[in-house]
Formats: sequence, structure tokens, C-alpha cells
Amino acid sequence: MVNVLLVHHSPSAATARIAEAAESGLRMPELGDIDVTVRPALEASAEDVLAADAYVLGTTANFGYISGALKHFFDTTYDAVREPTAGRPFSYWIHGGYDTTGAETAMKQITTGLGWKLAFDPLIVTGEVTEEHLERATELAATVAVSIP
Ligand SMILES: Cc1cc2nc3c(=O)[nH]c(=O)nc-3n(C[C@H](O)[C@H](O)[C@H](O)COP(=O)(O)O)c2cc1C
Repeated sequence: MVNVLLVHHSPSAATARIAEAAESGLRMPELGDIDVTVRPALEASAEDVLAADAYVLGTTANFGYISGALKHFFDTTYDAVREPTAGRPFSYWIHGGYDTTGAETAMKQITTGLGWKLAFDPLIVTGEVTEEHLERATELAATVAVSIP
């Protein structure tokens, strides 16, 4: 059975809705038997990453960068997972209030370093989270899951 790891930092109700929408995309019955592991970014481990076949990530924009929580996730797993997980599909969302530029650059740089393969255009949300954003988060996650070779 394939395993998809959803790692997110969702400190507000609005960001939690995006995470829930993404998780629902991974649990769509049409996708078949998928093992879904959901971890708050501060609880995700290198073992979680190694055990998964694909990754869905979510973060807020904070101080012109990704959240400290998702940064901590990358800091503590990067070296152990970089080689064994290269080429695995992934995508992500970023939720910011006004400017997500630095967070977008960070996600591109870090995931390029990891060698992960972008399976769906990242979802970038600035300000209010709409139904359209939630639908896109669901589609994003489902697409990552079906991109597992
Ligand atoms: C300490 C702090 C720093 C933040 N820095 C940024 C930032 O650099 N860029 C941005 O677009 N939003 C920033 N935000 C807004 C958050 O991204 C936003 O609060 C988060 O996405 C949750 O959205 P919500 O407050 O609408 O629920 C910041 C928020 C906090 C609390």
C-alpha cells in the first residue's frame, strides 16, 4: 500500500481548513487504498518521511519566510531523507496575510535541494480562504497521491 505524508503548520482556523481540505483529497475513496499519515510540522520525523511515497506540505508565511515549524521539520529531517526520497512526488500550500514571496522562495529552494518532484502547482493563498482555495487544496493532495509511480 502506498503512503502519503501530510505535514502542515496550521495555527489558525483558516489554515486548518486548508489542511482539512488537503487531507480529504488524500482520503477520497476513488483513490483506492492509500495509507495517509498526518503530522503537525513540529511532530513529523525523518522516519515519517522515509516511510512515505509522496508528500503534501502546508505552511503559513511568517516574517517573510515559511513558518518556524515547517522550517524545523526540514532542519531535522533533511540530511536523513535527501538521498533516499529524491524523485518522490510532492506539492504544498502557503497561506499568508499579505506577502508570501519569501515563503515561496524558501519552499522552492528546500524542495529543490531534496530533489522532490512537483506533482501539482503550489497553492498560494493570500488573505481570506475561499471555497475555491479549499477545492484546489483537495485537488492538489489527490493529485500528489495519484502521482506515485
Ligand atoms: C508573527 C507573524 C508573522 C507573519 N508574517 C507574515 C508574512 O511575512 N507574510 C504574510 O503574508 N503573512 C504573514 N503573517 C500572516 C500569517 O501568514 C497568517 O496569519 C496565517 O496565514 C494565518 O492566517 P489567518 O490569520 O488569516 O488565519 C504573519 C503572522 C504572524 C502571526
